[in-house]
Amino acid sequence: MIAIDPAARANVHLIDHPLVQHKLTLMRKKDASTNSFRRLLGELSGLMAYEVFRDMPTQDVEIETPLETMTGKQIDGKKLVFVSILRAGNGILDGVLQVVPGARVGHIGLYRDPKTLQAVEYYFKMPKDMEERDIVVVDPMLATGNSAAAAVTRLKECKPKSIKFLCLLTCPEGINTMYKAHPDVQIFTAAIDRELSDHGYILPGLGDAGDRILGTQ
Ligand code: URA
Repeated sequence: MIAIDPAARANVHLIDHPLVQHKLTLMRKKDASTNSFRRLLGELSGLMAYEVFRDMPTQDVEIETPLETMTGKQIDGKKLVFVSILRAGNGILDGVLQVVPGARVGHIGLYRDPKTLQAVEYYFKMPKDMEERDIVVVDPMLATGNSAAAAVTRLKECKPKSIKFLCLLTCPEGINTMYKAHPDVQIFTAAIDRELSDHGYILPGLGDAGDRILGTQ
């Protein structure tokens, strides 16, 4: 078991709202069906989005209610991009898009070369004008952190205004790796689990998130 670097821990926002924790516990159970796992992930992602967007800038807009004119606050969702790390990231997308339906979506696909152990990109598709956008990268499991850090490195080539990382679960290894590579990236998670297994699984974790979302076990 390794320790979390205190500086790295300061970048992690642990979302401990009872609704989030309740749904996460249901998802962890090994007998949760594909159907309920997917539904819970969608609900949880939507709830977690509230924390991710807590500091989102708003603009004053004048509107007419049925009774009078008032100044309300509005966000510009089009400036946001959710970037899903394939394939499990797509399980979070649905939930966050329910909350911010105007956001743009990008996808990044990486696999680990078995010889070099380096992340190799096989898919990269982003909206235009990335320099004007704030990115939230989504992936349920921040485990070794290697592919997540590689994804962020690649996204920085697009020079976005900011990058945040939203996951369901992480562990000390993932937090430390991300901080070492990208100390500017804030991580939002529902849990920091104990450790990574020798096979790269988060313990106690919830198993293979992609398989559980898609029923491919
Ligand atoms: N990816 C998963 O889906 N599960 C883990 O525990 C680690 C990485």
